[in-house]
Amino acid sequence: MKRAKKILALILAMAMAACTLTACGSSTDASVGETEDAAVEEEAASETAGGVITFGTNAEFPPFEFVTANGVIGEFDGIDMAIAKQIAEENGMTAEIENMEFDSLLVALQNGQIDAVIAGMTITEERAEAVDFSVPYYTATQVMIVKEDSDIASAADMADKKICVIQGYTGEVCVSEMGYAYESFKKGTEAVMELVNGKCDVVVIDSATAAKYVSDNEGLKIVEDPDAFESEEYAIAVQKGNTELLDMINAAIETKLADGTISALAVQYTEAASEE
Ligand code: ARG
Repeated sequence: MKRAKKILALILAMAMAACTLTACGSSTDASVGETEDAAVEEEAASETAGGVITFGTNAEFPPFEFVTANGVIGEFDGIDMAIAKQIAEENGMTAEIENMEFDSLLVALQNGQIDAVIAGMTITEERAEAVDFSVPYYTATQVMIVKEDSDIASAADMADKKICVIQGYTGEVCVSEMGYAYESFKKGTEAVMELVNGKCDVVVIDSATAAKYVSDNEGLKIVEDPDAFESEEYAIAVQKGNTELLDMINAAIETKLADGTISALAVQYTEAASEE
């Protein structure tokens, strides 16, 4: 049934000459079957029905996005993936995911390869010059993951330590602004392995993701320093000027924040993470 619906959605998306909401033809899957007129008409009754929103992410950031056998959107699961799915469904549309390196997301968005970015992405001034951000849906902060017996108790204690960060993440920006030397990795798991193996002393990364890594690996703990690390807000990014999609996303986020759906998802995925 789901598949049939998806096929109908694709047919409709292709049939619509003027696709207003998202970049037209963002779906590359053009292998559709026979048209079922009645059903297509029924779908067409809803204004936005049949559209596809292609969200770009970097599924290396639990509990927001990760790859699993049975995710909420194909193999993709996590808080962001559930939010993406709900935004699409609220509007009678389908969410698709393109998984890529974190560093490539904003370029892919600007190129029109994806319609939106949902990737635990922090709103920063620099990014806001290139893309438009939705209303925030989650507040986080950078924290330090260290070995349980570490003497690091504040950000200043990192000065003479070996610091690991993830390439392109706000954690990298923070550490570089503090003027400390660091090594950057492509994935959070890689940086955490360096720490576990004693090759680095501290990993600077977002709080919820840090909590997941600490629960997954023995002998690690989190050190917070709210004076050194400001709080960060995650939001969804769209192309500059794509107000139609942005309005749709904002309306859905506001509804899901107000009715408690997003905080319930945060709890659900955080608990799932610590049970593993
Ligand atoms: N919040 C941080 C940032 O915006 C890290 C986000 C990483 N997200 C990901 N899906 N890998 O830079």
